Amino acid sequence: MSKDEIFKGNMTTIADFTFGEKVASVFDDMLDRSVPFYQEIQRMIVEMAADFAVEGTNIYDLGCSTGTTLLNLSQNITSKVKFIGIDYSQNMLARCKQKLDAYHFSREHELICTDLNQGVNIENASVVVMLLTLQFIRPLKRDTLIGSILRGLNENGCLILVEKVLGEDSVFNRLFIKYYYDFKKRNGYSELEIAQKREALENVLIPYKLLENRELLIKEGFRYCDVFFKWYNFCGMVAVK
Ligand SMILES: C[S@@+](CC[C@H](N)C(=O)[O-])C[C@H]1O[C@@H](n2cnc3c(N)ncnc32)[C@H](O)[C@@H]1O
Repeated sequence: MSKDEIFKGNMTTIADFTFGEKVASVFDDMLDRSVPFYQEIQRMIVEMAADFAVEGTNIYDLGCSTGTTLLNLSQNITSKVKFIGIDYSQNMLARCKQKLDAYHFSREHELICTDLNQGVNIENASVVVMLLTLQFIRPLKRDTLIGSILRGLNENGCLILVEKVLGEDSVFNRLFIKYYYDFKKRNGYSELEIAQKREALENVLIPYKLLENRELLIKEGFRYCDVFFKWYNFCGMVAVK
């Protein structure tokens, strides 16, 4: 796994963050060191997905990146389902294909390159996973996207959504961000790396509050919604059609 040193050197200008080859090539290390309890979140997603997965249906991973979640899902869901990974980055999808090949992935699957801002065609789904991806979708497009996920899910199917979130109040928000940056420092990122990445993400990653995400899910028609994971400004929710 190559080490993420993208923001290590002093940068004169900081361009918006993109999911190109540079990021794709170090992405697994980046996630491991930047997402608190990433392995446990993966374990929980897979545990829940296995209970909602129905034979003969599709399991979607929206924003599948290098395919970590698809691989983990396939190892725990043994019934005959089709795995569909969607991402708009060709570089991420190339890495994903490489990883699936390396693991001799033999389950029925499809990798689709599409921009989720333009909506998504989901059908016959029992599980849809969206792990740290809705936050990159333009706010004006989020309602439509969640609506199309809901329509593509079968009755009792679930959406598993993990997002970076804003604190409900600015007092907590400031504290949570401080604790998060301390977490990144403990994982070997320097103050400069943290500051430069923060600037690159400024207009690209737009988090909602937990309650705003919940409202969005309920408004679009999900019947039940609960929080399964919360660590300061990270939150995992599961919603059922
Ligand atoms: C933070 S990563 C997701 C991590 C991944 N789910 C995991 O846990 O391994 C966000 C992913 O969403 C993809 N993405 C961002 N905006 C997108 C869009 N508008 N349409 C499709 N994919 C998008 C990026 O290319 C990237 O691979």
